[in-house]
Parts: sequence; C-alpha cells; structure tokens
Amino acid sequence: MSLLGRSAGGGDVRLESADVATFRSKLLSEIDLSELTALSPAQRRARLERMLSAIMGREGPVITLRERNALVRQLVDEALGLGILEPLLDDGSVTEIMVNGPDDIYVERAGRIEKLPMRFTSVEQLYQTIDRIVAGVNRRVDESSPMVDARLASGERVNVIVPPLALNGPVLTIRRFPQPYTLGQLIELGSLDLPTAELLVACVRAKLNLVISGGTGSGKTTMLNALSSAIPDDERIVTIEDSAELKLQQPHVVRLEARPANTEGSGLVSIRDLVRNSLRMRPDRIIVGEVRGGETLDMLQAMNTGHEGSLATVHANSADDSIVRLETLASMSEVPVPSDTLRDQINSAIEVVVQLSRTAGGRRRVSEVATLASRHREQFRLASIVRLDVDPDHPHGGLLRPIGLPAAIADRIRRSGQRVPGGFPVHGDDAMPAAREVS
Ligand SMILES: Nc1ncnc2c1ncn2[C@@H]1O[C@H](COP(=O)(O)OP(=O)(O)OP(=O)(O)O)[C@@H](O)[C@H]1O
Ligand SMILES: [Mg+2]
Repeated sequence: MSLLGRSAGGGDVRLESADVATFRSKLLSEIDLSELTALSPAQRRARLERMLSAIMGREGPVITLRERNALVRQLVDEALGLGILEPLLDDGSVTEIMVNGPDDIYVERAGRIEKLPMRFTSVEQLYQTIDRIVAGVNRRVDESSPMVDARLASGERVNVIVPPLALNGPVLTIRRFPQPYTLGQLIELGSLDLPTAELLVACVRAKLNLVISGGTGSGKTTMLNALSSAIPDDERIVTIEDSAELKLQQPHVVRLEARPANTEGSGLVSIRDLVRNSLRMRPDRIIVGEVRGGETLDMLQAMNTGHEGSLATVHANSADDSIVRLETLASMSEVPVPSDTLRDQINSAIEVVVQLSRTAGGRRRVSEVATLASRHREQFRLASIVRLDVDPDHPHGGLLRPIGLPAAIADRIRRSGQRVPGGFPVHGDDAMPAAREVS
C-alpha cells in the first residue's frame, strides 16, 4: 500500500483509492443504519471508528497505527460529514475552501490562496458531499437548479454551482465564519490604527450613519461586527443579513435573515422585505449586512427619517465608487426616483464611509475614512478624514494619515457626550481639505 502524501491542511495520510473504496464498501455493508440514526453524532463517530478498526484488524493490510488512524478518520469523515473537507473545516487558519471539481482543491490562509495535494476519489463523491450540504437547507442541486447557496450545520456559508454552468465540474466554495475580531485585534493586525479606531467608535456612538465599503473578502463584515461593539447596550438593534454572520455582543439584538425561494420558486423573503419590516419593529439601529439592491433606497429613507446610526456594508473598490454604487443600487428599486432626489437622499443620509482594501500581501486594512461633503442635490463630493499613505515597505502596507474632521461631525460627537479624539484637525464643513468631486 502506498501513501500518496499528506494534505498541507490536516496532515492526514491518503491511501490508494482502491483500498479506501474496499474499506468503504465493507463498512457500508456492515452498518446498521437504523441503529446509527438513533445515536448522537459523537456516539455515531465512536461506533463507526470501532467497526472500521475491527474490519481492518480482521482483513486489512499491515499498516502502522498512525496510518490506520488516519484511514479510519478519513473514512468516518466521509461517512458522517463532508469527507476530505472535514479536516480543512477543523483547521482554524483556513478562511475559505474552494473546490473546483473533484481534483482541484484550494484553501485560503492568511489572505493567500494555496492548492492542496488532495482530491475527491470521484465526481460522485463530490456530488454526495454537495447533496449532504444542500439537503440541510432543503434544496437540491441538479441541472435544473444548478446554483445553490446553502449553509453547513455549523452555519458557514456555502455556494454550489454545477455543470452545465460550471465547466470544471461541481464547484463548491465554503466561506469560513469570519472570526469575530475585536477592534483591538484589528489594530494588532495592523488593519487600522488606534486614533482611527477611536474616531470610528465615536462616530458609531454619536449615531452617525456609516457605510463600510470594500471589495470581496476585504473584511467588511468583520469591520461591521467590530464597530457594532460601540453601540450602547441600551439600544434595540435589528440586524438584517443574507446569511447571518454578524455576532453582536449587545443584550438586545433582533437578528433577521433573508430567505431564498424554495425549489418551486416561492417563499422568497428579500433583504428589502426585511428592511421594510424592521421599520415597524421600533429599532434604535438598523444594521444591514450588505446592501446589494433596491433595499438601498429603503435604507437611505430610514437613515433620513430618524433611524440614525444605521450601519451597512457595500461592495465597492473605493470610497468614491461606494457612493456611485449606492446611487445605482437605490435606483434598482421598483419605485422610480428622479436622480437628483436620489442624490439628495444620499447626501443627507450618508455621513461616513470606511473604505477597506486588501494589500498586495493579502492584508486587509482601512485605506480611507471619508465624509460626504456635498449637500442637497449637489454633485457628490467626498473629503478624506483619514487616508492611507501606501508604503510597500511598511509591515502593514503604509500609515494612516489624518486629514481633517468636518466641524459638523465633531459637533455630533460632542453632543453625544464624548470628546473628539485627538489628532484630527477640525475644519469648517466647507473648508475640508482636498474635497473631491465624485465622477
Ligand atoms: N483585518 C483583517 N485581518 C485579517 N483577516 C481578516 C481581517 N478582516 C477580515 N479578515 C478575514 O477575511 C475573511 C473575509 O472577511 P469578511 O467576511 O469580513 O469580508 P467581506 O468583505 O465581508 O467579504 P464578502 O465580500 O464575501 O462579504 C474572513 O475569513 C475574515 O476572518
Ligand atoms: Mg461580508
């Protein structure tokens, strides 16, 4: 029996697929399924491990104890869970698992993608794993519904897309739960500095409307979660998400999660439906995990009609883009809104934009904090409060430089009973340095 190598992830040993297949079928023929279903997951695992050890002791090849344990684990993982993906899910350093067909498995660790020397034994085995995942959300995946978003039992987000849409074979993307980093931890990681963190905390406490913007996987949800810790405990918070990732620490949080349509195409509850519903729930704060469509208009209206201190994330590669994107998204609502009215809504609703970026080294960091300097129906103008001076030689990709804080924001911070964090020169709203037109 030859060993095919070791996965960079779990350190497990893989055996020739023919041997594995033999043991798998022996195990299956000896299992009493009805007995197994009556057991708890831990008991089930123990039972399968005992059975397999017995089978191997009886008819297996001579292998070391370590090899045998690895094989037992691989087979039990396959029988019970997500097969060869299980050790990757156990590995806390893995932030994303990407399966492009049975032979091509990648993970992301510390912001970098690496290919693993492991594979599913067959495309059928990959489909079995996929079926197990999507069954958990009552969905099925086949030619007629070839794209499904699902969740693992542990809550992690999974996307599946299969042929004929995916040409590599079934593609599975698992996003590990973002670690609930605190602001202190984000500072230690070099994502932002202490003065910027203090400023953002002051803005959240002062109930300024704040948008976190960034590209895919730039750490938006993580930053939203960290900043939400600044919300006082006595406020009623409603969170609205596509898939519930936020982990707020406050005692009074109502969590809402959108629902995709079922296989018959009915039952859809959109983020937009939830935003509208949340307005009737007496929220002090509305937090929208990510705005991606017409709900943006409802969110802007809520921000402008007394639901201050709302927080949301938006997918955009720069602070300038985030404003343009909000305008585009708000115009996707079925209510036709003239563009200058929309501009008015955005100019009066959005106060602070926190832009996140990924550096060349895979680091996630705040690259700008900006404020909307335009008013009413004016063309959008943004002014930097803090800006990253990019320096590739700096361990965190550069330093954040304070530029200026508009007097109106400083006032709001003071009126909420806080002091304005030091180091930010306060300027009259019309005299903010380097305000720029957003095109
Ligand atoms: N500042 C950070 N430093 C290191 N890792 C981070 C940081 N912020 C986020 N991460 C990690 O990066 C991954 C993506 O983070 P997150 O889900 O917050 O990004 P996102 O921008 O919300 O992604 P998406 O576009 O998919 O919504 C997670 O695994 C998270 O733990
Ligand atoms: Mg996110």
